Amino acid sequence: MREYLPVILVAAVIGCFTVGFILAYLRLRRDEKDEQSDRSMSDKTIVLRLMGYAKPYWKQFVLVLVIMAVSIVYDLLSPALIGNIEELVKDEFVYSELLTKVLLYAGILVVSLTGMYFQTMILQKVGQKILSDLRLSVFSHIESLSHEQLNNIPVGKLVTRVTNDTNGISMMFTNVLVTLVKNIMVIFGVLGAMLVNNVAMTMVVLCFVPFVVLFTAIFQKFSRKAHRGVTDSRTELNTFLSENLSGIKITQIFNRQAQKMEQFQGFSKKLTGAKYQRMFVYGIFRPMVYLLHISCVLCLFYFGGRSALSGGQVLGQVITSGTIVTFYLYSSKFFDPIQTLSEHFDVLQSAFASAEKIFTVMDMQPQVVDEEDAIELEHIEGKIEFKDVWFAYVPDQWVLKGVSFTVEPRQTVAFVGSTGSGKTTILSLICRNYDIQKGQILIDGIDIRRIKIASLRRHFGQMLQDVFLFTGTIRSNILLRKEDVTDEAVWEACRYVNADGFISRLEKGLDDEVRERGSNFSAGQRQLLSFARTIVHQPSVMILDEATANIDTETEFLIQDSLEKMRSIGTMLVVAHRLSTIQHADNIILLSHGQIVEQGTHQQLLQQKGRYHQLYTLQYTKQQLQK
Ligand SMILES: Nc1ncnc2c1ncn2[C@@H]1O[C@H](COP(=O)(O)OP(=O)(O)OP(=O)(O)O)[C@@H](O)[C@H]1O
Ligand SMILES: [Mg+2]
Repeated sequence: MREYLPVILVAAVIGCFTVGFILAYLRLRRDEKDEQSDRSMSDKTIVLRLMGYAKPYWKQFVLVLVIMAVSIVYDLLSPALIGNIEELVKDEFVYSELLTKVLLYAGILVVSLTGMYFQTMILQKVGQKILSDLRLSVFSHIESLSHEQLNNIPVGKLVTRVTNDTNGISMMFTNVLVTLVKNIMVIFGVLGAMLVNNVAMTMVVLCFVPFVVLFTAIFQKFSRKAHRGVTDSRTELNTFLSENLSGIKITQIFNRQAQKMEQFQGFSKKLTGAKYQRMFVYGIFRPMVYLLHISCVLCLFYFGGRSALSGGQVLGQVITSGTIVTFYLYSSKFFDPIQTLSEHFDVLQSAFASAEKIFTVMDMQPQVVDEEDAIELEHIEGKIEFKDVWFAYVPDQWVLKGVSFTVEPRQTVAFVGSTGSGKTTILSLICRNYDIQKGQILIDGIDIRRIKIASLRRHFGQMLQDVFLFTGTIRSNILLRKEDVTDEAVWEACRYVNADGFISRLEKGLDDEVRERGSNFSAGQRQLLSFARTIVHQPSVMILDEATANIDTETEFLIQDSLEKMRSIGTMLVVAHRLSTIQHADNIILLSHGQIVEQGTHQQLLQQKGRYHQLYTLQYTKQQLQK
């Protein structure tokens, strides 16, 4: 009995841990029953779709597999070689033989290391290429989404999709996938090599395999949960950050820094907590596999040593000290890949989770798309008709209710009405930023749904209510990558819309820096720049959504003057908040709650003494009072 005491002790320790793990697992399963799974795609679907991105690089992957097969030889041969050397040193010592074996060992090592170097280089390169392809396709897909779809996804989430999630997948291609294959090959290879060397000793190692499998399977469950915790908290933090960094000035103005900080701390703590949990799971698993490994080594030493000392045979094979050394080394070659394998399975799982999130965005079908037989519009006259148009952003909450009007070519038509009455909505429908639910919108008598979107938008110059300027220079913001435009043409456009004055006063003129969202320019200047941008793109129909922001009288005059000039370019649709701007319009449409209540010229509407008259008198009196 006493001679089996060490083995009984080892068995007792492993048994205790096994029972503990199984109990913890049962508890986890009970908790998970209440949570719904957030994965809707199967692993197989995800793998197949991901493989689509790897397909163009299949030659490189085959090359890596070949290199890997060569470098595995080291893992398989080196323990046997070292065991051999051990025996050599013990028996009659032959120097030349020792030298040959050591050189052989060094040779295999060099080949294996060289192989590993090339393998890493090739994989990193391919991984980066796949990553770049993936990022590109996610970004271009996001670009094709309609305004409505974009309104529904927070920007922070999209940023996470394009950056973090694609990164998660790149890890899979650069590291995990190939190591996974390699480790599986090594595990089976080592098993084979052990069997060839000594069956009895292999049996000792195999006794531990069921425990390794059990521990790994349970670890899988825990680590998956921990990983999901980390990714979810990270997305939450990113979404919060991207929104709040954009609105940080408002936070400062309303002195809400402390409250925002508190919220941020909450998200940050949650992420830290999730990461701790993940570390905890790994912190338990790694020592456990190590415990199994060491127990296995102890048993190998114990049984191997006993047979070696008594000189007996086990299963017809003699065990020498060399065999013990060989198996000691094999056991680590066997357990190490098992440990990394399970951890890699985990990265694979989180890559799958990332991939699913990316594919969910990619699967969003663009809502506003060209019809199959959509036509190209080379030239337009500029006649616009709305025929009983009904539109809702949210189903059944009608924003436009049966709007009908006609704009003749080269006419200027103005939309007025209280805030939220649907003016901006009408303008964005003309350019098909959204599709209408009922009715028809016609350009030169053609339904806009029958015209290719790109060709439709090319003819419209949209100057939106909130002007968006990109980081760059004044020139880059005016051109927006339109290439065939000379500096002289840019200046001409600027002169046309009276933007030349302030630009020429800038130190670097057109090359002056524009910071994020054009924060270093005034609202009026931004508006003038957006006019210049539109003029350079030579549209046939101009659409202007006048900013509500207060601008100084001088800029207001400049804007009015440029509006007057722009009238001569083509059809013009204007949303005006200052009625003084639109007195010369050919038609003024007054909207209220998504319906047209009055229309006519300035004089006609004044004579009607209706809502427009009221509005005008109000603004006029206010102006007089200000003077
Ligand atoms: N993206 C959106 N999603 C849902 N509802 C929207 C969206 N944009 C606007 N709305 C709603 O549609 C209505 C009309 O909005 P619209 O922007 O056309 O008003 P507006 O006449 O341009 O107002 P303002 O003079 O303030 O610019 C509003 O009630 C608004 O709440
Ligand atoms: Mg508006």
